[in-house]
Amino acid sequence: MEASENGFYETAVAESETQKLTRSERIDIVVGSGVRGQTYLFWRGNQLYELPVSYWTAGRQWINSPGYRDGTANFGRRADPRCMECHTTYIRALSSDPQTNLYDKASLVLGISCETCHGPGAKHLALEKSAPGSPLARSAILNPARFTRERQMDLCALCHNGTQREELLPAFSYTPGKPLDDFFAPAPDVVATQLDVHGNQVGMLEQSRCYRASPAMTCSSCHDVHAPERTVASYSERCLGCHRWQSCGMARTTGGRIVRNCVDCHMPLQETQAIVSITAGKVLHTSIRNHRIAVYAGQ
Ligand code: HEC
Ligand code: HEC
Ligand code: HEC
Ligand code: HEC
Ligand code: HEC
Ligand code: HEC
Repeated sequence: MEASENGFYETAVAESETQKLTRSERIDIVVGSGVRGQTYLFWRGNQLYELPVSYWTAGRQWINSPGYRDGTANFGRRADPRCMECHTTYIRALSSDPQTNLYDKASLVLGISCETCHGPGAKHLALEKSAPGSPLARSAILNPARFTRERQMDLCALCHNGTQREELLPAFSYTPGKPLDDFFAPAPDVVATQLDVHGNQVGMLEQSRCYRASPAMTCSSCHDVHAPERTVASYSERCLGCHRWQSCGMARTTGGRIVRNCVDCHMPLQETQAIVSITAGKVLHTSIRNHRIAVYAGQ
């Protein structure tokens, strides 16, 4: 890993007695906020590739990018449009082949921003300037709070429902408020029950009795996507919006101590088998929160 005046680089070195081969590529795009980790992408002309080394936050170390072979540096893994759909607001693909990594570089809009969830905003912006607060201006932007529960869940499921779905339409064609089933074939059952590579919060939550027995429950019952994540303990308040701590089976033995950590027992942190990095012979797993709210054995 190298820093120079022109940016940050990953350099791979292969040496034998007679030869030394090196390859250097610049870190052009960072994927991930870094809460769990970061992966890096580089441009080669208008083709986008993933770099072989990632950063793992919990272990505070550089690791082989998940899924890469240990002991070798592969610079040939393409960053496909689906990867970009979940991790950026927009990029225009230059081919309709879903395996492609050819893009219009200038079209890239980094981050997951307002328009990902609220749809195109130009008309709303123009109207808010000419007629601030008018009903017309308000109706010129999508507000997920007014979607049905199914459509609210679909919006989050675009990115939080695992990755193993067959696509019916190309990346970036989904518009919030539309049924996701028009864009993807339904996830195979096995995906819904596994903790997927990138978390499958939608599939897991939908299996919970909380969700099934509460017609208004959505991801927004606990998360405000507009604000930074809060402490784990503060989520207990969300549980207590619907439950009394006294109705927990443990209440009689533990008393009020459980009030601040409902989540530890009922949404345990679990190691995923899916994000795995093999680095210097060691197998490293990431932990994610199980969104199937339930009674777990041994708790
Ligand atoms: C376009 C894809 C996309 C959509 C749509 C999306 N998310 Fe996310 N979300 C992500 C990605 C990617 C991350 C990981 C953030 C990162 O590290 O870059 C994330 C992270 C999160 C986190 C964790 C934040 C943290 O700091 O750890 C929560 C909570 C979350 N999303 C909730 C939601 C909810 C609720 C919805 C639906 C209203 C939603 N997301 C819709 C892609 C998306
Ligand atoms: C179906 C949507 C989807 C696809 C496709 C996808 N990701 Fe993700 N990714 C997510 C979500 C959502 C998270 C947040 C973690 C979670 O949900 O557990 C995430 C998390 C990450 C993180 C950890 C970031 C952090 O600190 O939280 C990295 C790094 C990452 N993805 C890289 C990639 C790369 C590189 C690709 C493409 C080769 C890719 N992902 C494809 C949805 C996706
Ligand atoms: C990951 C998806 C996501 C992103 C990104 C996002 N929002 Fe939202 N937004 C939502 C959801 C979901 C709701 C409805 C929340 C609820 O049910 O309370 C919402 C509600 C709102 C509301 C409230 C509407 C009302 O009825 O009170 C405003 C205003 C808003 N968003 C503005 C923004 C702005 C500005 C940005 C960019 C800085 C942004 N949002 C980014 C998902 C998102
Ligand atoms: C929107 C309301 C709502 C929220 C928020 C909510 N629950 Fe529930 N929960 C319910 C309902 C309704 C049931 C089903 C009760 C029944 O069938 O008797 C339930 C059932 C449960 C069960 C029994 C599960 C089983 O499989 O038997 C547990 C445990 C539970 N909730 C814990 C929690 C925890 C912990 C939280 C916070 C992380 C939480 N709930 C948040 C409404 C909610
Ligand atoms: C009953 C409350 C509750 C609901 C509903 C809920 N979450 Fe979470 N979520 C949590 C808690 C608690 C955490 C862990 C926060 C932490 O560790 O700081 C979390 C963490 C996350 C993370 C970060 C990844 C991780 O494993 O830490 C993502 C992404 C996320 N939620 C997405 C979603 C999505 C998408 C939905 C809707 C399908 C959803 N959540 C519904 C309580 C909830
Ligand atoms: C130390 C772990 C632990 C903590 C903390 C905890 N629970 Fe529980 N909870 C359990 C166990 C174990 C059971 C099953 C007990 C039984 O069947 O006798 C249970 C059962 C439940 C049930 C199902 C009761 C039923 O009738 O099926 C609900 C609802 C519940 N807990 C809610 C909560 C809430 C809300 C909190 C936070 C205030 C919480 N729990 C904190 C371990 C815990």
